[in-house]
Amino acid sequence: MTSPYLHEDPPRGFAPSTADQRAEDAPTAWAYMVRCADGSLYSGWTNDLARRLRHHAGGTGARYTRMKGGAKLAYAQRCADKSEALRREAALKKLSRPEKEALADAWAAQHKITVRLADESDAEAVVDLYNWYVTHSTATFQYELSTVEEMRENIRGVLQRAPFLVAEDATGRLCGYACAHPLHPRAAYGWCVETTIYCAPDCMGQGVGGRLYRPLLAMLKAQGYREAAALVTHPNPESEAFHKALGFFKAGTQPRSGYKFGRWLDVQTWWLHLAEESDRGEPAPVRLGLTRAEVDAILEKTQ
Ligand SMILES: CC(C)(COP(=O)(O)OP(=O)(O)OC[C@H]1O[C@@H](n2cnc3c(N)ncnc32)[C@H](O)[C@@H]1OP(=O)(O)O)[C@@H](O)C(=O)NCCC(=O)NCCS
Repeated sequence: MTSPYLHEDPPRGFAPSTADQRAEDAPTAWAYMVRCADGSLYSGWTNDLARRLRHHAGGTGARYTRMKGGAKLAYAQRCADKSEALRREAALKKLSRPEKEALADAWAAQHKITVRLADESDAEAVVDLYNWYVTHSTATFQYELSTVEEMRENIRGVLQRAPFLVAEDATGRLCGYACAHPLHPRAAYGWCVETTIYCAPDCMGQGVGGRLYRPLLAMLKAQGYREAAALVTHPNPESEAFHKALGFFKAGTQPRSGYKFGRWLDVQTWWLHLAEESDRGEPAPVRLGLTRAEVDAILEKTQ
């Protein structure tokens, strides 16, 4: 009997993904308003909304928001380009206070985020969101687009043992999702999960990630999982800062773990003890789901 390892001309595995395979980011421009601690509204424009919001919140955005403090997004409109955003910013600045308030109210109503358990009917929206990262980002090491059927299978599989959460706005648009998989199939790893999160690119930096991860982690803990790990491509400053803010610590780096878009990439493992670190006793078997009442209580507490 011949071995399947032996070939006259051995077949090859994946061809490396090259730099020019990275899809171009569509240029973005935004006109926006932030509400400061004293209730006043500041209008501006930016081509990177998430970064601009961080700068405002951190006191490095604009003199006005630095002086007033507490800047939080109150309105955002995506524009075709910088000149449209500048025109929209100028128009915002000319609005009366009641007009600005009406705009902010309408925006808040539309952007009211709801977090819920996913079901298979979410597969199409989830795969659209995820595939953007496949083609534009090294946050995932996947080369090929996922199909709706694969995502349906993924959602079904995750829900056998962990939460799969989606965040949507008032129009039902998917703003992000988070889920967890077993870290490793061997039985002794049964108390460890790997967590995953993706926000829609235009929803980053607006609190959606936290709204998804807090209940995800609380549900995993309630099930009896003990440890959570996030595998974060380096560099990914948003994800590193996010995991740190959510209580994870950097447990290690796997150098040059992957090759995508023409470069070798390290992967950092960010780790969170879900159980008390001092609790080293025999663990109870993990519960493979929660009751509806438990899920509702966690969602209510963490939103
Ligand atoms: C990583 C990611 C999920 C974070 O979600 P998000 O909605 O942008 O994060 P939030 O706005 O909820 O931020 C929660 C906290 O994380 C921290 N944080 C998030 N992004 C940050 C950044 N760029 N710089 C500094 N801190 C940051 C802050 O402490 C923040 O709290 P604050 O807003 O009160 O300051 C999101 O950026 C994303 O989807 N990135 C692309 C996909 C990806 O990399 N996924 C992770 C794969 S491992």
